[in-house]
Amino acid sequence: MIAVASLSRRYDHVRALEDVSFEIASGAALAVVGPSGSGKTTLLRLIAGLEQPDAGEVLLDGCVVSRPGWSLAPHRRGVGLVFQTPALWPHMTVAQNILFGLRGLPSAEARARLEALLVRTGLKGLERRYPHQLSGGQARRVALARALAPRPRFLLLDEPLTNLDARLRDDMLELILAAAQEAAATLLYVTHRMEEAARVASRVLTLEAGRVVGIEEP
Ligand SMILES: Nc1ncnc2c1ncn2[C@@H]1O[C@H](COP(=O)(O)OP(=O)(O)O)[C@@H](O)[C@H]1O
Ligand SMILES: [Mg+2]
Repeated sequence: MIAVASLSRRYDHVRALEDVSFEIASGAALAVVGPSGSGKTTLLRLIAGLEQPDAGEVLLDGCVVSRPGWSLAPHRRGVGLVFQTPALWPHMTVAQNILFGLRGLPSAEARARLEALLVRTGLKGLERRYPHQLSGGQARRVALARALAPRPRFLLLDEPLTNLDARLRDDMLELILAAAQEAAATLLYVTHRMEEAARVASRVLTLEAGRVVGIEEP
């Protein structure tokens, strides 16, 4: 379960997020839409613990993980993140990027998990490449595999299909949905494309200037 209660965050005079509340049941999905600058990325970063709220709380599986003045470290939240740009480590190979999230595991187990993810995301054979040797679509899939590697209970995706052509977007979306379902992860999916939102989630939350202006079931 992901819940945010009266969450607010401002940057100087900008109210990036203002009194936002919602809940996503365990294993369910919520899409967040809204124009550029409406606070979508801020919301995702607050849930991940990369930003701190000025007011309100973030709860994961019923436990408060963020409130003003206190915050659980991002790596202790069980959250997998896919950013708007793939943000791979340029000095690491595909395999090393994916293994990064598996540092705590015995190496045989990490290897087995890596193999499964490479097959799952269609990256087999590319494991020794560096990010600059990948196409845009391949880099996206590495970012997804890296996020999925530690089996996060919560998967947060920030416009993960930006800059992909229509066919690649479709393939990648199928992959994301199948992987999330397989992992039984609770999903928060940010996009500015309404048709994408409707495919991902049964509920779509709309943000405008940091405020929730509607939660619909398309
Ligand atoms: N680190 C920051 N410093 C100052 N302003 C920021 C920062 N991050 C975001 N903002 C502002 O907060 C608002 C919401 O931004 P953001 O959450 O990135 O929106 P979206 O992802 O919907 O495009 C915008 O007005 C943006 O300029
Ligand atoms: Mg954004």
